[in-house]
Amino acid sequence: MASNFTTTRTIVITGGGSGIGRAVALICAARGDNIGVLDINADAAKRTAEDALRSGAGKALGLPCDVAVEEQVEKSFADISLRLGYSYGLFANAGIGIRGLIHELPAATWRQVVETNLTGVFLSCKHGLRHMIAANIPGSIVCTSSPTGFVALAAGAAGAYSATKGGISSLVRCMAIDYASYGIRVNAIVPGSTETPLMWRNIDAAEVIRLRAQLSKEIPLGRLAEPEDPARAVAWLLSEESSYVTGSHLVCDGGILAKASVSV
Ligand SMILES: NC(=O)c1ccc[n+]([C@@H]2O[C@H](COP(=O)([O-])OP(=O)(O)OC[C@H]3O[C@@H](n4cnc5c(N)ncnc54)[C@H](O)[C@@H]3O)[C@@H](O)[C@H]2O)c1
Repeated sequence: MASNFTTTRTIVITGGGSGIGRAVALICAARGDNIGVLDINADAAKRTAEDALRSGAGKALGLPCDVAVEEQVEKSFADISLRLGYSYGLFANAGIGIRGLIHELPAATWRQVVETNLTGVFLSCKHGLRHMIAANIPGSIVCTSSPTGFVALAAGAAGAYSATKGGISSLVRCMAIDYASYGIRVNAIVPGSTETPLMWRNIDAAEVIRLRAQLSKEIPLGRLAEPEDPARAVAWLLSEESSYVTGSHLVCDGGILAKASVSV
């Protein structure tokens, strides 16, 4: 079957209004891709789309979308296909982090984290895949996992968040196998501690300064990541440069996962 894939790529980014998603949008825009930004924060989505156009995107569209709500995800992908063309790339990245010890965690909070992080990735991939398959596009999907999908945070109280990231990592491996015969690649990015609003939410300013200094000593590369650090790795996975990479985790964490924390 002939592919409908054209040389201009359309890349859809969930959670593209801020942080790592926004950085991916701007890097892909600078290489001339069309950019579709989905974010629960409508203003932030629109702002990233406008900045993507200024950075060189062929076309850009920012839409309000809660990734946990299937009707919104389905409609967003339909709108983007109509206005920007079928997507070559999907960065399923929207996520939230809410801490709490499991024996104290309200079930509603657990559900909120699971619905946004894990169900959101499922729904984004489901509708992204449908469009890629319908248009016979050998596309690339990247989902955002985390070191917490592999190891527990030393600071603790991250059970719900970590469970969703472990789930995303498993889903990535399964989708890589299921869609390889379509030529669609599925990989995960594993960002380390990255300077975004999510990283410092609910921590007061003085504590941020202390924690940043402490973390910088603990991270082998000696600093936290800027959003562009993992974003460059994602942009590579969302291009033909990585044409033989599927089912992989690209660890971009400054060495966190390579380091055992025991003192011997
Ligand atoms: N910052 C880090 O240190 C770090 C480390 C590892 C993994 N991550 C992961 O990276 C991803 C991006 O996080 P970030 O650090 O850039 O955070 P961020 O808060 O800067 O960006 C997250 C974006 O997702 C959006 N969002 C939240 N809920 C949504 C929903 N239901 N539907 C649509 N959009 C929604 C937010 O509005 C925001 O724009 C997340 O999945 C996060 O778990 C972050």
